[in-house]
Amino acid sequence: MEHLTTKYIQKSFYETKVLPLLSFLYTDTMYSNKYDYYRIKDILDQYSSGQLESKRWAIDELNNCAPISQEDLVVVIGGWYGLMSHMLCESGVTNTIMDYEIDETCIDLHYKLKVHDNIMIEYQDGFEIFDSREHNGNDKVIICTACEHIDGDDLYGYVAMKNPKSTILLQSNNMHNIDSHVNCHDSLDDFIDSLPLDKILYKGAKRIGDYERYMVIAR
Ligand SMILES: C[S@@+](CC[C@H](N)C(=O)[O-])C[C@H]1O[C@@H](n2cnc3c(N)ncnc32)[C@H](O)[C@@H]1O
Repeated sequence: MEHLTTKYIQKSFYETKVLPLLSFLYTDTMYSNKYDYYRIKDILDQYSSGQLESKRWAIDELNNCAPISQEDLVVVIGGWYGLMSHMLCESGVTNTIMDYEIDETCIDLHYKLKVHDNIMIEYQDGFEIFDSREHNGNDKVIICTACEHIDGDDLYGYVAMKNPKSTILLQSNNMHNIDSHVNCHDSLDDFIDSLPLDKILYKGAKRIGDYERYMVIAR
């Protein structure tokens, strides 16, 4: 249990939210077809030590090099079941957090886990914010810890459109063996070279179990 509680996630969250959701899903998959067993595994994966450590790393380095200021809108792209948004709130972020997700079941289950009112969950391709003058014109902190799931050329194009006043935090990894990973990298330099970033505020690599995760924070 110890690895499950980092400084940005509490034991009580598991007791009141995560375990009841897993139990609900188990029962539901026995008596209806609404959810698949796979969701139980996927939620357990979200709370694995590597995922928790990746999010804690992101929040700590963001606080070090580009602290979120009061007027910033925070954007999480590929919010999954909401772990990144939840941990940001637990770290003290009270700004509005837009959590964009394109999987309706993730959104549905994120609502069941959500405890913070400042998280706004939206069914939308999160990268579309870069196409819009309204969304791309204001100061933002944009976070995507799922770049391994985003086509490399698309990601390059979106990041190139970023408003230079916005901060962007991106993570990818070298886990080539997973089917849905279409944009893995073999080193931190390889990841950074794949992106059109001018002002890098932080870059780092972290060994997590048997793989490496890469992170860059830029403006
Ligand atoms: C498997 S999860 C996240 C894994 C990753 N290690 C992390 O912690 O962020 C990736 C999520 O990104 C979502 N996703 C992929 N492309 C997206 C997009 N363009 N906009 C919003 N969500 C997206 C997927 O539906 C999925 O739930």
